Amino acid sequence: MQPKALLSFVVLAGSAAAKTVFSAISVNGVDQGHGVGVRVPSSNNAITDVTSNNIICNTGFVQPVSTAVIPVKGGDKITAQFHHYSAGYLGPDPSDPVDPTNKGPVLAYLAAVPSATQSTVTGLKWFKIGEIGYNGSQWGSDILFINGGNVTFTIPPCIASGQYLFRAEAIALQAATSYPGAQFYMSCAQLSIEGSPSPKSPSTVSFPGAYTPSSPGIVTSLFGLSSYTTPGPSVFTC
Ligand SMILES: *[C@@H]1O[C@H](CO)[C@@H](O)[C@H](O)[C@H]1NC(C)=O
Ligand SMILES: *[C@@H]1O[C@H](CO)[C@@H](O)[C@H](O)[C@H]1NC(C)=O
Repeated sequence: MQPKALLSFVVLAGSAAAKTVFSAISVNGVDQGHGVGVRVPSSNNAITDVTSNNIICNTGFVQPVSTAVIPVKGGDKITAQFHHYSAGYLGPDPSDPVDPTNKGPVLAYLAAVPSATQSTVTGLKWFKIGEIGYNGSQWGSDILFINGGNVTFTIPPCIASGQYLFRAEAIALQAATSYPGAQFYMSCAQLSIEGSPSPKSPSTVSFPGAYTPSSPGIVTSLFGLSSYTTPGPSVFTC
């Protein structure tokens, strides 16, 4: 390869990295503040190994990690705020919250925990509370871009009261024609949920485990795609 061709290949490869970070939440439209109650990864690099513990809540957090636990109620609207960098919104940026050419779904999960500030995130039982996949013309990532990085999910009203981790994730699929290729961007937020006195028990999955290198939606070609199966379990409904 000629040096010039190599350079343009490197530049192209660089622009194919979506790079986004979920770093703040809003509750019913009320911003909780940057990094408050969120374990914010210090790097906007993707996680690509679905078998790694880093697929759970990301890694390399901005220190100190917030000790805030955000109180919410079943039925509340939780908005995950994604931006290009860990520091949040830094002004006009064509790749904020995510490069608009980088398409993929946006998903959210909850896991009950003894303490929302516990550092241990392995062995948790996760259930999906929402997803925006692809409807034939628009991706979750398009909605994220249109909404300035905000993506909103509803806390199921029928779950048990207690402490939870809220895992919101954007997946970029432009390099997902083989594994590893899909780029996973997630953070976990610390919630205390006032749920139902007669709760239902969602069926759960593990991370790692919920996604495998051969799961639907992990290896995908965006070219000519007419439908898309979002990875992970179906969304829990009350
Ligand atoms: C996909 O969703 C967008 C935004 O909600 C909507 O404008 C569009 O009409 C939908 N397209 C299809 C094919 O359903
Ligand atoms: C996203 O949410 C934040 C915090 O609630 C808000 O300040 C901002 O205006 C929202 N952005 C858009 C484009 O709605």
